[in-house]
Amino acid sequence: MNIIGIIASQRKEGNTAFIVNKILEGAKEQGTETSTFGFSDLDIKPCCGCWACHKSDQGCVIKDDMQKIYDALEHAEAIVLGLPIYMGQMSAQGKIFTDRLFARFSPRFSPFFKENAVKQKLILSFNQGNPDAGLFKVYTDYTKHMFEVLEFDVTALPIVTDLRSKPAHEREDLRTGLKEFGSTLGLEGHQK
Ligand SMILES: Cc1cc2nc3c(=O)[nH]c(=O)nc-3n(C[C@H](O)[C@H](O)[C@H](O)COP(=O)(O)O)c2cc1C
Repeated sequence: MNIIGIIASQRKEGNTAFIVNKILEGAKEQGTETSTFGFSDLDIKPCCGCWACHKSDQGCVIKDDMQKIYDALEHAEAIVLGLPIYMGQMSAQGKIFTDRLFARFSPRFSPFFKENAVKQKLILSFNQGNPDAGLFKVYTDYTKHMFEVLEFDVTALPIVTDLRSKPAHEREDLRTGLKEFGSTLGLEGHQK
């Protein structure tokens, strides 16, 4: 099993980083190979809408740090995507990552989208400051659906809430719960 984590926040030690890192920590303890990509360390530009990725097998023409993620995606069985809610939606970093996945539908990646191909697992983890878990449910459900349409095998974790009153690293429930989830994810990989 090979799992990659995407931290769609500019905050290197923020809540999203804590959440993604804890899940990967649990998976790693089960012998899973993991790697993490955080937007605070990366220079990833928005999709320029040129369609070049669909017109040939060269992949995305923007030669920035997204290329490292494309390479990692080719070998990953699962992706843990950590998304903070900013203004009622995924952060801009999350949307840039999502848009740049467009290149995965190019001829270069077409084997992934063959009929009966094993779908890549996507663990969707939203977090927000507000304590009301239902506040953006319509949006988070929609986002799950959107990734399913993109042929991912999506598991949406319960949204992590109330981070306004206490940051994630001070929440013991999160520390143990996320690590346990990661551990289960790692074990699932061994059972395949
Ligand atoms: C620009 C911005 C917009 C935000 N909008 C919302 C919001 O609409 N609803 C909410 O509950 N929290 C909102 N928050 C709080 C974040 O979702 C929360 O602090 C999150 O855990 C930040 O993750 P990070 O530390 O990884 O960046 C916002 C934070 C920022 C910086």
